[in-house]
Formats: sequence, C-alpha cells, structure tokens
Amino acid sequence: MVDRLGDRQPGVAPATAGALGPRGRGLFGRLLDGLRSSPAQRAEACSIAVASGKGGTGKSFVATSLAVLLHRAGRRTTLVDCDFGLAADHLLLGVKPIASLQQLLSGKATLAQVLIETPCGPRLLPGASGVRKLAAMSDKDMLQFAHELGAVAADNDVVLLDVGAGISPAVLLTMLAADHIVLVTQPEIAALVDAYAVVKCVAQLRSDSRFHVLVNRVQTKGRGEQAYQKLTEVSRQHVGISLDYLGEVLDDPRVSQHRLGQLPLVVTEPGAATSLAMLDIATRLEQIAGPLQRRSVEGEAGIEARFRRHRLFL
Ligand SMILES: Nc1ncnc2c1ncn2[C@@H]1O[C@H](COP(=O)(O)OP(=O)(O)OP(=O)(O)O)[C@@H](O)[C@H]1O
Ligand SMILES: [Mg+2]
Repeated sequence: MVDRLGDRQPGVAPATAGALGPRGRGLFGRLLDGLRSSPAQRAEACSIAVASGKGGTGKSFVATSLAVLLHRAGRRTTLVDCDFGLAADHLLLGVKPIASLQQLLSGKATLAQVLIETPCGPRLLPGASGVRKLAAMSDKDMLQFAHELGAVAADNDVVLLDVGAGISPAVLLTMLAADHIVLVTQPEIAALVDAYAVVKCVAQLRSDSRFHVLVNRVQTKGRGEQAYQKLTEVSRQHVGISLDYLGEVLDDPRVSQHRLGQLPLVVTEPGAATSLAMLDIATRLEQIAGPLQRRSVEGEAGIEARFRRHRLFL
C-alpha cells in the first residue's frame, strides 16, 4: 500500500498544493517530502531495530550487548539510542555524552560532534533523557532524524536502533524503517500480548517486516521457545506472518545488579552463561538475517527514504 505512492507523478502536486489552505499545503508538503527522490544507488549499513511492546523487557541490555559483539566480529557498528525522552544506552556503555540527539535535531551540534566512540568499541549516537519535546517529535524533527539515520547508515556495516517501548509514531516509524526487528519479550503473558500488538501494528503497515524474537529473563530453560511458539502462532493466524526465533536469555542477577557506568556483561564477563547466550543470539541473527554488513541499496530502499515514506501513514 505504501509503495504504490511512488508510482504517482510528483510533478502534478505543486500546482494543486498552491490552491489549498495551510492545512492542505502542510499535507502536500509532507507528501512531496515523502516522494522526493533519493540518490539512485548507495552503500548502506544493515539496520536492526531492537524493540518490545512492554517496557523494561531488556531492549537496552540486548542492544548494547549486540553492538559490542558485532563490533568484536569486525563490523563497523553504531548504536542509535532512539529512546526519545528516556535514553540510557550511554550509561550501559560507560560514556558521558556532551551532546545528544536533542542538540543534533535542534541544529546545535553536528552528527560528528554527537557520535561518540565507546570504550568497548561500537560508536553511540546518544539519545536524550527527560526531554519532553523529543518524546513527542514534530514532523520536522522526524524528517531531520530520518536524514541523520541515513548519514549514520552510510558510514557503517550495522546500525542498531534501540527503540523505546510501546507503539508511539516515532517508535513505529523506526521499526518500519529498519531492515530487521529484534523483538525482545519476556515469557509472561502480559509481555507477549504487548509484543503481539507491535507485530500487528508494524505488519499492517509493512507486510514484509521481519521479526526475530528474543525471549529474555527466562526462569526455566526452554520457556523461551514455548513463549515464542505462542507468539508466532498467534501472529501467523491473525496477521499472516511467521516470526523467527533467536533464542532465550535466562534471568541473571549479574545483569540486574550490574552498576550503571560499568561496561556490559559481555565485556566484563565474556565467559558467563548470559554472555555466551548473547553470543549465540548474535550468531543466529546473522544466520537468519544474512550477512550483517553494508550493501548497495536503491535510494528508495534506503533507511532515510523508508522513514520518510512510512511517516505519511501514521
Ligand atoms: N537477562 C536478564 N536478567 C536479569 N536482569 C535483566 C536481564 N535483562 C535485563 N535485565 C534488567 O532489567 C531491567 C530493564 O532492562 P533494560 O533497561 O535493558 O530494558 P528496556 O527494555 O530497555 O527498558 P525500557 O523500556 O525502559 O527502555 C534492567 O535493570 C536490566 O538490568
Ligand atoms: Mg531501554
């Protein structure tokens, strides 16, 4: 449905837009922005959104661990903290940013000034914490954000997007724009119901979305796969898509007791069962998703163009 718009004649719109009032012009302006052509071919990173329905399922733990492991596997990796408003990845990666997404979107800092190298390897585009304006982004901010994502993708093999919980427009858009979605859930029914809500919302807008399920904080081995089976069955029956299974991570007090500012467990205790589980998950992700590296994309298939296009439907 979304891609059909690309067949229209963009040249017809400006005259029509001129005859409309401010609201109409706004709508046409957005349509034209969405249709503006991007460069034909470009090299771009593979993008992976780390998402959940319910909050606190372990997205940031998973996103920071994957960022470190992919960096160590030789991939040029950047983690973008897209938690607009309650960002915390810098704390988990042991860095103190001087500027964040907030300064980037308001034009007070450049991408080069905001991106930081972390001691464990991957680069981080820090999100903003406690900034109300970012929690409800304007259309202009979204377009700017899409542009910055395109710039980050042009310079990496893998871009990980740690998205906020729930199904707000900015969260949905980030998932819609990514190549892959790692859906982090817990095995409890409340988390599975919220994870299903995400699958439903995203799949309705983009039927070729690819979800890879990670079940976190599992108490008993094997519960993760049972939870996944329920989730994929319901998604297949009601939305018509099957989900992939990445694996489970047991509930581990070493994770919850990790102090903020300490480096991730995969760095401090690489031999711990949880770190090895994350390594298996990174390997499985690559097996399912294909090589996690930069590749050539058509401009309209790039992350920036997808973000712009999908925002027209939210
Ligand atoms: N496997 C695990 N075992 C024990 N504790 C865990 C595990 N994974 C995550 N946690 C803990 O759960 C809490 C929430 O994790 P995290 O911040 O990664 O979740 P989140 O999904 O990013 O949350 P939010 O929705 O607020 O962004 C943290 O205290 C974290 O240390
Ligand atoms: Mg988080």
